[in-house]
Amino acid sequence: MRHHTTFRQLEIFESIARLGSFTRASEELYLTQPTVSMQMKKLADLVGAPLVEQVGKKVMLTEDGRELAQASREIFAILDRFTMSVAQRRGLEKGKLKLMAITTASYFAPRLLGDFAKEHPGIEVSLRVTNKEQVLASMADNLDDLYLLGTPPEEIDVVATPIMDNPIVVLAAPDHPLARESRLPLERLAREPWIMREAGSGTRKAIERLFHEHRLEIQPRLELGSNEAIKQAILAGLGVSALSCHVLTLHQPDQFAVLDVEGFPIQRHWYAVYPAGRRISVVARAFLDYLLAQPGGAACAPASTSASTFASTTTDCGGGCGRRAGGPAIAR
Ligand code: PGA
Repeated sequence: MRHHTTFRQLEIFESIARLGSFTRASEELYLTQPTVSMQMKKLADLVGAPLVEQVGKKVMLTEDGRELAQASREIFAILDRFTMSVAQRRGLEKGKLKLMAITTASYFAPRLLGDFAKEHPGIEVSLRVTNKEQVLASMADNLDDLYLLGTPPEEIDVVATPIMDNPIVVLAAPDHPLARESRLPLERLAREPWIMREAGSGTRKAIERLFHEHRLEIQPRLELGSNEAIKQAILAGLGVSALSCHVLTLHQPDQFAVLDVEGFPIQRHWYAVYPAGRRISVVARAFLDYLLAQPGGAACAPASTSASTFASTTTDCGGGCGRRAGGPAIAR
């Protein structure tokens, strides 16, 4: 039987077995009914036994028919898996990956993307770093594969996967008087001159929400549209600010003081996001799996915070986020 049965015959038979009707099988496969009947007769002859029997208007499977239907389903499932894995290998050999990251994600996204690209040298990668407005426009036009964001957008239906922690810490110049103090109340911080990110920044919203929850308000002394500019202003002694601990990546030990303030660090996450309903590419899926497989670390955890709060998904900030155990609040 094996040498004479065709895949087409098994496909027709599987369809009849599933739908219980020659007519519906012929419609599903775009074949005429006489073709379906002829192929089924040939198949039964090859098996040497009837595969179906007509009971009233219904087509019922014989015992041999049931066994052949099961075997056909298994054969097609194996073939489907084979086709899928060939497609995946092709995709990962020379696909494209277009990423868009919101401003602050630029501190870790290039490194992760670089490591992924080294593992898959045939993949063309691109990363655009931008603001929230452009993220929404790109999503609406389906321009990029994945978006790395601190806040999944509410305006668009999306699938958002948390990929790592994003603690917001209060930073000051190392010689700032508050750097030596512990457990500073939020009210005390509200009286400091603040340097804030621009309106619309996710970091800024998180800080304002925390103060608002405590019925406090901060009056920014200075508003700057970049994390780097804020760090410079802090070092120039213009005030304090709160930023993602990821902005301390690559900084020297003790370059900034991380203040020990009630309510901080604000626990946030980074998300990999794509529009709901969109089937993401094999490459984008592989990158997402790669992000989720990144080992965690407690590098962002201040001494007073339980490391387990951070350990599961935190990507190492490059040693810039911790604080000296028991000592003053200095970044190292
Ligand atoms: P942002 O960071 O402050 O650069 O917008 C994104 C976020 O934390 O939501």
